[in-house]
Amino acid sequence: MAIDVERNDGAAVVTVNRPEAMNALDVEHAEALRDRLAELAQDADARVVVLTGAGEKAFIAGADIKYMQSLGVLEARRWGELGHACGELLETMPKPTIAAINGFALGGGCELALACDLRLASANARLGQPEINLGILPGWGGSLRLARTTTLGFAKELVLTGRQVDAAEALDRGLVNAVCEPGDLRERTLELCRALTAKSPLALAYAKEAVNLSLQGEHGANLAAEARLFAMLFASEDQQEGMAAFAEKRQPEFRGR
Ligand code: CAA
Repeated sequence: MAIDVERNDGAAVVTVNRPEAMNALDVEHAEALRDRLAELAQDADARVVVLTGAGEKAFIAGADIKYMQSLGVLEARRWGELGHACGELLETMPKPTIAAINGFALGGGCELALACDLRLASANARLGQPEINLGILPGWGGSLRLARTTTLGFAKELVLTGRQVDAAEALDRGLVNAVCEPGDLRERTLELCRALTAKSPLALAYAKEAVNLSLQGEHGANLAAEARLFAMLFASEDQQEGMAAFAEKRQPEFRGR
């Protein structure tokens, strides 16, 4: 399969399965990735979505350079839109998304990791936007998301020089949330999934939507929208349960309503 989806309790682990090409995304894999993400966005049983790469060397080494070699402007536009569709799904689907970065996350790979809500990296991971070395620029949202996730100065450095960073520097710069030994990445990721699936899916969806407001619009209107999302959760059983559990000194049991 181009893209594997494995269920683990409430988590769906999506694996780009093209290790012979460092999990670089060609059209077949990029379209399949978009389609699987679109399905999972609608799937209430998938409470958390993890993106990772097959094998031990690469998360996703970018868009397929050999495919891109002969693209014209209109084809490149469509190719860019396909990558953007994947990024937008990861960024906006109403549930947490996690990039489990198990090696090279370069170009489009780094960009899709940046579109996820959380990033865990193995100590052997290397991240970067090397497009400048190919005479292009990051085309799947990385120019903007890297600057928002880290700093404008660091994003400009990586985008303009093409320099790759190791996991320790990525952590230091806020490009990833945590680093672990390669052999521990899967368990650390599933542990995070378990922590997230124990929470109210409604509250997670609204919280993600509220934090994403900072990506757009006018600050005052965004604060008003956050206030609306906050208030709406008080119509849910999960809010009653979460607060009752606190008062009764027990663990909450969220039901997603
Ligand atoms: N596209 C197509 N094929 C790729 C690829 C890519 N992005 N990355 C790796 N591969 C292929 C290699 O061509 C090679 O194939 P062959 O065996 O047929 O020669 C195979 O994967 C193994 O790769 P290497 O032999 O190069 O492995 P390595 O360990 O020496 O190096 C690497 C690994 C550092 C990741 C190196 O492969 C590399 O630099 N890859 C390209 C990274 C890159 O520039 N990514 C950005 C792409 S542009 C982009 O993504 C645009 C965008 O914004 C959407």
